[in-house]
Amino acid sequence: MGLHLTFDWKARLSQVEKFERQVEDALSDFNSGHNASGLHESIRAITRSLFPVPYANQLLRNKSDSELINKGFVYKPKIFSNDVAVELLEYFSSSDESITLNAIEYMNDSLILHRLLTLVNNETGFNHIIWKCSFSESHPFSESPSNFWHYDNHYNDWTPKLMIYINSQEKEKGGTGFCNADLSSKISAQTNYRGLLGQREKFREYISDSIHLFNIDPISLELPHTRITPINSTDSVFFYPYRVLHKGFMPLHGSRKVLTICFTPLPPSNNSSIEQCALTSMSVLLNTLNNKMQKWDNIPYWKQ
Ligand SMILES: [Fe+2]
Repeated sequence: MGLHLTFDWKARLSQVEKFERQVEDALSDFNSGHNASGLHESIRAITRSLFPVPYANQLLRNKSDSELINKGFVYKPKIFSNDVAVELLEYFSSSDESITLNAIEYMNDSLILHRLLTLVNNETGFNHIIWKCSFSESHPFSESPSNFWHYDNHYNDWTPKLMIYINSQEKEKGGTGFCNADLSSKISAQTNYRGLLGQREKFREYISDSIHLFNIDPISLELPHTRITPINSTDSVFFYPYRVLHKGFMPLHGSRKVLTICFTPLPPSNNSSIEQCALTSMSVLLNTLNNKMQKWDNIPYWKQ
């Protein structure tokens, strides 16, 4: 049996458990001075072995002018019409952050999945499958680990996300900050800061010796970044959360509602139509819903 993309829950859980154990070991080696290659490289090596993308080289060659691939994120203003924006807000407004069958069916029937798959294909030059759709609502004092600079370390280089802001933040000022991929990588190689859960509270300690090197604001300690503050409903941003340091900015008042879509790439040689990708995505999302796994963030990966 050759390589295949696995959506199997048990296999994914076991892989993430391995990942967590190996990262914990790498972090404790680093903290006790036993890690010569640096934490940044160790984490990348762990991810490469546990969540490989066998055709990564082909993906890299595919679209040399892609802002998403080169910079690690790309802002896409207002990806849906006002009507769709209003309907999305209705489906997710009173939600307790759960994704319902009605919402998934609406996204399929109104060709939203189709549109999202077309957008990601246009950005990268290859097909993807949607494997997760989640909704979150944050308030001025919402505390979340994602409010610290971090990567989604349990992803890999080729797993993009799309954040769709479904309510305007023009007055609320909520949004997300992104540090570009090249700078993120340099900062992490220099400081060993990757925003692991054991590192986030110690950001200042990791970064303090490198403030001048990377033009980091000495008072706020904010990394040089692009801050996305959505003005229109459905202003969106594609990003590779494993490649770019990013953090959430809470609204000053009201709430920030975000629909997040996670994708996984298919090999460039795959010539499925967008309709077929939408069909597969729909069945993956329904399977996720039926197994009550909507909150899971374990990426599908290529397995022997
Ligand atoms: Fe994140």
